[in-house]
Amino acid sequence: MSKLHQKVALIGDGAVGSSFAFAMTQQGLAEEMPIIDIVKKQTTGDALDLEDATVFTAPKKIYSGDYSDCKDADVAVITAGVPQKPGETRLQLVNKNFKIMKSIIKPLMNSGFDGIILVIANPVDILTAAAQKFSGLPKNRVFGSGTSLDTSRLRVALGKKLEVDPRDVNAYILAEHGDSEFAAFNEATIAGKPLLELTKEEGITQDDLAELEDQTIHKAYDIINNKGATYYGVATCGMRIVRAILRDENAVLPISAPLNGEYGEKDIYIGTPAVVNASGVKRAIEIPLTDEEAAKFHKSAATLRQIWDDAVAEDAKN
Ligand SMILES: NC(=O)c1ccc[n+]([C@@H]2O[C@H](COP(=O)([O-])OP(=O)(O)OC[C@H]3O[C@@H](n4cnc5c(N)ncnc54)[C@H](O)[C@@H]3O)[C@@H](O)[C@H]2O)c1
Repeated sequence: MSKLHQKVALIGDGAVGSSFAFAMTQQGLAEEMPIIDIVKKQTTGDALDLEDATVFTAPKKIYSGDYSDCKDADVAVITAGVPQKPGETRLQLVNKNFKIMKSIIKPLMNSGFDGIILVIANPVDILTAAAQKFSGLPKNRVFGSGTSLDTSRLRVALGKKLEVDPRDVNAYILAEHGDSEFAAFNEATIAGKPLLELTKEEGITQDDLAELEDQTIHKAYDIINNKGATYYGVATCGMRIVRAILRDENAVLPISAPLNGEYGEKDIYIGTPAVVNASGVKRAIEIPLTDEEAAKFHKSAATLRQIWDDAVAEDAKN
């Protein structure tokens, strides 16, 4: 994508969406950004607020937009969704957000949009598959933020524990962005040295690592209990992924990618490192897992398949 004028459409201007728009503005990424939401006052206010930041960052046309503005967008980022209500089952939430996704993808595609879709709304793996199904776009051009946030959290936690810059920790959270995800500790490294050797040298036990993994997976609850929602971390992950697309980086990022035989799985979107460039997902990279980790991966994939099948069956009834 060597265009001088790049356009990223943001759909969903809540806590995550507006933080993403702010991150994009701070990084001087994309020359044009229409913001779309059912709450027009929010997008109007955000556009007016964000344009004031361009004086100190980089020129950008930011405005409250409509789906017609997506026609020539390079990327559409979807953060629109409703949160889980107390007493609501996961499937009920999935069905609600399935409907919202359908109501977004239809006008998006009707605009003539032919770019890349990045889904951040939850449950991200399922909604990414839904966005691909409803849009009919090639699988490599629709993907989700997957376990990018969870992986950041893992690297931050390991970085703190080992007193190492988290950017230099090569470790991943894999599979569903949700309860069945897991840390692939056995393959993690720092400067090529196995993480498990380093932790052993530092007196960090397997129990300590299990606790760290648990805290990482449940960190969202800690944040939500304190301030009601999480948004800066995931918004920055979204910005990082979009930068890899706009700058054709071939960056290796943990996203919700379509598998085609990797990990022995296919026809599923799930969290794995993958190469991201201007054409979307170039390829998923299969981490060679231990048997125990592979079993966790397959279990997580089976969980996602079950949710997907139930959601599709429910959707067919409507
Ligand atoms: N993938 C991740 O790692 C991750 C992390 C945090 C949050 N999330 C998810 O991101 C999503 C957004 O979270 P949030 O905190 O910003 O929620 P929020 O309630 O603050 O914002 C959601 C926005 O979506 C808009 N919206 C709802 N229906 C719409 C529609 N049909 N068309 C256009 N806009 C519509 C709402 O008006 C609102 O502005 C949620 O699904 C949340 O679970 C994902």
